[in-house]
Amino acid sequence: MSKKKSPKGRKRQLNGDKKSRFGKYKLLCCVVLFLLYGVGCSFAWNAVSVYVFAYSGQPKEDMQRYDVLLSEGDAYEYDMAAPEAIGENVTFKKDDWRLILVNKRYSIPDDYTFELGRVETLKGMMECDERIIPDWLRMKEAAKKDGINLDIASPYRDMDYQAYLFNRKIRPYMKEGMTYMEAYSAAAQAVTVPGASEHEIGLALDIVCDTYKKLEQEFADTEAGKWLAEHSYEYGFILRYPLGKEYVTGIQYEPWHFRYVGVEAATYITKEGLTLEEFVESLED
Ligand code: DAL
Ligand code: ZN
Repeated sequence: MSKKKSPKGRKRQLNGDKKSRFGKYKLLCCVVLFLLYGVGCSFAWNAVSVYVFAYSGQPKEDMQRYDVLLSEGDAYEYDMAAPEAIGENVTFKKDDWRLILVNKRYSIPDDYTFELGRVETLKGMMECDERIIPDWLRMKEAAKKDGINLDIASPYRDMDYQAYLFNRKIRPYMKEGMTYMEAYSAAAQAVTVPGASEHEIGLALDIVCDTYKKLEQEFADTEAGKWLAEHSYEYGFILRYPLGKEYVTGIQYEPWHFRYVGVEAATYITKEGLTLEEFVESLED
């Protein structure tokens, strides 16, 4: 005997259909909510990590500068430069942009101009003279092949930022009881006076590595510090403030501060054990 479906039974069935459809929607809703939650978390995490890693230790006024840099986009891209051949009879010219001497005695000329290029650093995208980027990338790549991960801690700085760093260096000395002039002169051995730093012309890079990120003299004992001291000249960089040459440079030993001078000059300077001061002053006008 066939059983007639009661209206009640029909209703139940309809409810059952609704339920199973709602069940499907419920699943779909859960998936969508889960995805939205994931996207939200990742966005929040990115925002937090940009803040924490890019700005940790940065003073408030620097944040604005880095905000601009970080929001501008991708890494600076350049074709790798071919290594320059070192000829026997290379002549160096004092007016070569790569050999500009900037220090406490020779401040940056008022009419000095250059183009900034974007470069990846520990703090996100920053800038340096665009002409040195191909050789920096070549050096980074070569070090990587030797198992060393180099990173830039500080490339270009404008004068305001150099002044900020300089004043920050003075204050603790004064707290220790030095007069302003004593503190000024002590600070100037580690941070060049504003208007005279190679960072302000985009040709200096403070370089560290993934296992040692501090700008301290112990960096010299790391594999990266040793690698740089041995190989940086092959890529046009010199260790600008060597140990034992403080009386020439007027700056403390800085095993992390590398100055771009081009492969030929870097090779000559390094092999001869010179400072940039000694080299440039030996060139004919
Ligand atoms: N730390 C180097 C000397 C500079 O401030 O340019
Ligand atoms: Zn430096």
